[in-house]
Amino acid sequence: TSWCLGRALPADRSLGADGRCSIDVLDGSELSQQQFLERYAYSRPVILRGLTDNTKFQLLCSRSSLLENYGSLKVRLSTANTHSYRKVDVSFQEYVEELLRPQSEETLGSETLYFFGDNNFTEWQDLFDQYHPPPYLLPGTTGAYSFGIAGPGTGVPFHWHGPGYSEVIYGRKRWFLYPPDKEPHFHPNRTTLSWLKETYPYLPEEEAPLECTIRPGEVLYFPDHWWHATLNLETSVFISTFLG
Ligand SMILES: *[C@@H]1O[C@H](CO)[C@@H](O)[C@H](O)[C@H]1NC(C)=O
Ligand SMILES: *[C@@H]1O[C@H](CO)[C@@H](O)[C@H](O)[C@H]1NC(C)=O
Repeated sequence: TSWCLGRALPADRSLGADGRCSIDVLDGSELSQQQFLERYAYSRPVILRGLTDNTKFQLLCSRSSLLENYGSLKVRLSTANTHSYRKVDVSFQEYVEELLRPQSEETLGSETLYFFGDNNFTEWQDLFDQYHPPPYLLPGTTGAYSFGIAGPGTGVPFHWHGPGYSEVIYGRKRWFLYPPDKEPHFHPNRTTLSWLKETYPYLPEEEAPLECTIRPGEVLYFPDHWWHATLNLETSVFISTFLG
């Protein structure tokens, strides 16, 4: 189901393609905590399906439910570039109704305002209390959530940080990843969309990223220091659990 329900925007259709999937995709029941640690936690990304049941959380994240419960609250937006320079505060309703738009290819990442992270966990506590994060633990870390909603064509260009999970609640999100020692070529102020159109098609096979598109019910795990960029193929609601 589309988060926009009957408000699908033209770019929702034209962006379309999921691309290939070169990341292991496993059913949660196929992977024990020990296997997660041995095979993935410190070495490569993995996509896990059906780990936890977030049906209720998804209902609470519908457009109408979020607007009703949180519409009047202020949210902090960031520019979607590698170094996230600018922060802007608007009401959640204004973000959804005025700013949540498909992004064109010409737009610079430094001009796109994106709602992701900087969440107020006091005001939104009732919502986050209903989220069931992935069950695999990484020794010596605890999880911190970042919640976001973004329009088709938006995404964060290549960057890296500590390990974590990203789950899509509504929509589709395409991921591109490189190991820590394979820094990709990209301009920090350009968007993932422009990288996809201008650089990706010309990459030699040995410089191809690991990639896959995730949908509701799927969680991507990225290890420490892995480069990653994302592209929202539809208006997407997503939540990351950063392990630090
Ligand atoms: C979060 O919201 C509460 C209640 O409105 C407010 O007092 C607090 O300052 C906010 N925290 C941040 C970091 O904005
Ligand atoms: C990216 O954009 C920011 C803000 O507009 C600017 O300060 C910075 O110099 C730009 N970086 C590059 C590498 O162009």
